[in-house]
Amino acid sequence: MTWIPGRTGFRYGGDYNPEQWSSEVWAEDIRLMQDAGVNLVSIGIFSWVMLEPREGEYDFSFLDEIIGMLSDAGIDIDLATPTAAPPAWFWKAYPDSHPVLRDGTRLGFGSRGMVSPSSPDYRRAATAIASKLAERYGTHPAVVMWHVHNEYGAPISDSYDDNSVTAFRAWLRTRYGTLDTLNRAWGTQFWGQTYGEWDEIDAPRQSASVSNQAQRLDFQRFTSDALLACFTAERDAIRAHSDRPITTNFMATNCPSVDYWKWAKEVDIVANDHYLAAERTDNHVMLAMDADLTRSLAASEPWILMEHSSSAVNWQPRNIAKRPGELARNSLQHVARGCDAVMFFQFRASRYGAEKFHSAMLPHAGTNSRVWREVVGLGGELASLSEVAGSRVSARVAIVWSIESFWAMDLDWRPSADLDHRERIEAFYSSLWRRGVTVDFVHPSADLTGYAAVFAPSLYLLADAEAANIREYVAGGGILAVSYFSGIVMANDEVPAGAYPGQLREVLGLAVHEFLPLRDGELVTLDTGATGSVWADDIVLTGAEAVANYTNGPAASGVAITRNRHGRGAAHYVSTTLASVDLDRFVESVLDDAGVAHAVLPDGLEIVTRESESQRVRFLLNHSDDAIEYEGNQVEGGAVFVVRENADAVPHYGA
Ligand code: GLA
Repeated sequence: MTWIPGRTGFRYGGDYNPEQWSSEVWAEDIRLMQDAGVNLVSIGIFSWVMLEPREGEYDFSFLDEIIGMLSDAGIDIDLATPTAAPPAWFWKAYPDSHPVLRDGTRLGFGSRGMVSPSSPDYRRAATAIASKLAERYGTHPAVVMWHVHNEYGAPISDSYDDNSVTAFRAWLRTRYGTLDTLNRAWGTQFWGQTYGEWDEIDAPRQSASVSNQAQRLDFQRFTSDALLACFTAERDAIRAHSDRPITTNFMATNCPSVDYWKWAKEVDIVANDHYLAAERTDNHVMLAMDADLTRSLAASEPWILMEHSSSAVNWQPRNIAKRPGELARNSLQHVARGCDAVMFFQFRASRYGAEKFHSAMLPHAGTNSRVWREVVGLGGELASLSEVAGSRVSARVAIVWSIESFWAMDLDWRPSADLDHRERIEAFYSSLWRRGVTVDFVHPSADLTGYAAVFAPSLYLLADAEAANIREYVAGGGILAVSYFSGIVMANDEVPAGAYPGQLREVLGLAVHEFLPLRDGELVTLDTGATGSVWADDIVLTGAEAVANYTNGPAASGVAITRNRHGRGAAHYVSTTLASVDLDRFVESVLDDAGVAHAVLPDGLEIVTRESESQRVRFLLNHSDDAIEYEGNQVEGGAVFVVRENADAVPHYGA
């Protein structure tokens, strides 16, 4: 099941939290939803206490009524399990379920968010309410899909409570079998940490100095698995009574604690929440990156934008309102990158509580407002584009995305505080974006053979099989580009024997004898005129050719950029943070090597193509304020053009 059965065309709507309002307001909301073309709403996300006011006592009258009203109005329901907001009675009865932070702080009630994922009481209570909901509504014709929980992993994920410690030990027994194996994997001989009994092992809570890094890495893996087990338990409870697709909302590039490659295999449809980091002036590029990762997690099947905002959020340092037209442009940008459902948080703006200053589809200002008019406008645009739904986006270039590598690189005591994998991925992605190159993200063990070029910015950790996969890709004819501090450690954060980067030495045809991190703000120069910062390596060539050398700095006259022929392909290496224009030259040289077409697009212009067997549709999105002339189309500032092959451009929104 990869889409909602029987539903074609775009889905449009948002979270609806009717518990805030009287039933007269519900009737008005439903009329307004119809005016805006809303055809799907997520309900019940935080309704646990209304549905189960006391443990084991259920009252579905509220849901019966609202589901009946939505259903009569022809609006589909994405029914949530309310397990991200356990009721006060739960916390009173099961205080051991409160999450505990690494520093020992036990969190309290009065908000929402995750319980200790390893609490057996939570697991029992959550699956019970999920099961009751599915029993009652699992075959209701208007309940077309399930929304389990809300944003697993946010706002916190890892918990150091007693239940988590017990579950962590069990997880380690499964992973390692014996304590000897665990002691070896964690390198516990160093600093005298050897374990003689399983119950000596603790969660890696705050300690006097740096905690064992392999232990922390395993705790991250364990936490992702423990959260996933919460999801699959609820999913299976629902599945016993309902055949509708089941999902949970991801936060693709923004959830540091969950391995979505694993999770994506467990959901029927990939759904994602995305919020702009509004203050960034390149937030449209970051939106594209998030959408591309989401599409990649969905293995290019259509996906759902489960939440975004109509305008400002309320949780950033400065909550910047969207400019006129931005609501539709952001939405269509997700659509251009493969999404088939555009949803917002939330339908009607709250008047009290934590999110009263968060924008909504229907703002406090009411229907006579710019935001509402744009919401209604977007409903019409999506309806007019309905034949695009179901078509695909394809990419010839990929960037490796490994959350395990992120986790490992973020641990303490790395060679430089300036090492930043996320910054490197963003820099490479941005360069490709400016060249109109559509990018997939891939797990390091994925089949890479379909890609002309694969970029690995800051891929610090590579398990043996992953390194072999990358070597085979190049040997088979692939073009690989690697940036510094990649392939440095294996699965347990251990350095392989020999010079760096042990996991990529052979494919890169070089050996790094020493890391040469630069001082804060220090710049180095290459003999091509390029500028580098942050890092340099002491490189010894073992087969690669030097493409550029350093003229100064700690690696003066040493090698900076290389290319190595390996089998039928080639691997490029860059050992410093190149200035943006110089990184562009490097990226271009890799694309040329791979035979991938690229052209510098006018500033702010984005072009993406969606294709099906019967049609090819190009989205031209102008993120700048000024009109852009492109291939005979005048794309107004802020506008989106949708160009159907062999047809005239259709201006879809903007100036
Ligand atoms: C998250 C949550 C929503 C809401 C929004 C606000 O995505 O899932 O419930 O809090 O943030 O931006």
